[in-house]
Amino acid sequence: MQCGTLVPQWVGQCPACRSWGSLVEEVERARGAGARPGTSSLPVPLARVDTDPTCSRPTGIAELDRVLGGGLVPGSVTLLGGEPGIGKSTLLLQVLASMAASSGVCLLISAEESAPQVRLRAARVGPLPDELLVLAETSLPAILSAIDGCAPAVCVVDSIQTIAAPDIGSAPGSVTQVRECAQVLTRVAKERGPAIILVGHVTKDGGLAGPRNLEHIVDTVLSFEGDRHHALRMLRAVKHRYGATGELGLFEMTDAGMIGVDDPSGLFLGDRRRGAPGSVVVTAIEGRRPLLVEVQALVGEAGTGGPRRSAQGIDPGRLALLLAVLDRHANLKIGSGDVFVSAVGGVRLGEPAADLGIALALVSASFGRGLPPDAVAIGEVGLGGELRQVPHTARRLTEALRLGFSRVVLPSTAPDGPPGLGLIRAATLDEVIADERLGLVSAAA
Ligand code: TYD
Ligand code: MG
Repeated sequence: MQCGTLVPQWVGQCPACRSWGSLVEEVERARGAGARPGTSSLPVPLARVDTDPTCSRPTGIAELDRVLGGGLVPGSVTLLGGEPGIGKSTLLLQVLASMAASSGVCLLISAEESAPQVRLRAARVGPLPDELLVLAETSLPAILSAIDGCAPAVCVVDSIQTIAAPDIGSAPGSVTQVRECAQVLTRVAKERGPAIILVGHVTKDGGLAGPRNLEHIVDTVLSFEGDRHHALRMLRAVKHRYGATGELGLFEMTDAGMIGVDDPSGLFLGDRRRGAPGSVVVTAIEGRRPLLVEVQALVGEAGTGGPRRSAQGIDPGRLALLLAVLDRHANLKIGSGDVFVSAVGGVRLGEPAADLGIALALVSASFGRGLPPDAVAIGEVGLGGELRQVPHTARRLTEALRLGFSRVVLPSTAPDGPPGLGLIRAATLDEVIADERLGLVSAAA
């Protein structure tokens, strides 16, 4: 099945994901060949197992190392998924060039581009050490013997969907091929020790046939995201056997490849029209990093086709909830008109901490009055219209101060911030809206 479910006979509809006609025949192979060598088959007390903590090698790409919690672990398998054109090949070329200089032979298996094409791209991203080898190959046995031959510290396979084992009947990219090739390569990583990175193309509509099946085989799943029309790229660990998954890596796609972004808040706020109606700055915590992001709202009367609602980078369910709360507790009837809300810069705001900012953006857009340009909003909005404090308030406040903001709207229960910030505290949403310091009220009256 495209979703990876196994059934012993032909069926029209998948019992798990209910999709029709997604069955593919696979030949079941003998299992058990993948046991890790050197591991004893006797149980030992868990408390006495050595943890062997710092065996990861920095890749030299700081934002990637941040996401990996240090670097690449020898013998590990990492899947880098993302939409075509997002920059996977470019980033990995930079990783290989950097690691070839620090860790010895690194091998790029290019199954999509010829060696000269790779060379052309590489000319843009910097110097190429002699230890960086390339092989344009799609056949799994040839790839295995190349890995055997040059014993690389790191091997990138670009992409897992374009290589194939000839003894398996199905086409490259099919569920069977992708899984079989990944399993064989995983075995090679465990037995011979190279860190292997598999590239997997993922499509937006959830056509994840290939990569989704691999998530349980590999040690680490990285997801590379971003809007192709923006230069910003976000790297997250979806699964990571060697560390935490919360960290976010930020890159900017430039003519010289991927460049790490040191000051993301500065980047997100760069094009802001200060004090424009409908614009509010909120805080987000990604991993250990606080980010300041602008939320924009636009409201209007619904056209003849009925009201339209669009949420970019914001959960539509959360937006619906905030509209309902504004309606009920602030007497603001905008839910029946057109409502557009967007987190600027291609960021996703998943945290309730952005609630207050989103609600204020809606109010500000609806009144046509801008908030003070030096204000930031932090807080969760409850169903009763009450404001609730959110985790990491101190870190959010410090970041706001660092970026030159001088006023923060926050719940009355929230802790104090660093000196120098004017705190506008409120217990409920309508109390905030009525606060004269925000300049929303006179229009409301
Ligand atoms: P690529 O790494 O090929 O994406 P993927 O492997 O995920 O499909 O990158 C594709 C785009 O990146 C392509 O449109 C060209 C652009 N690009 C740059 O902007 N700067 C660069 O230095 C390079 C090498 C590519
Ligand atoms: Mg590519």
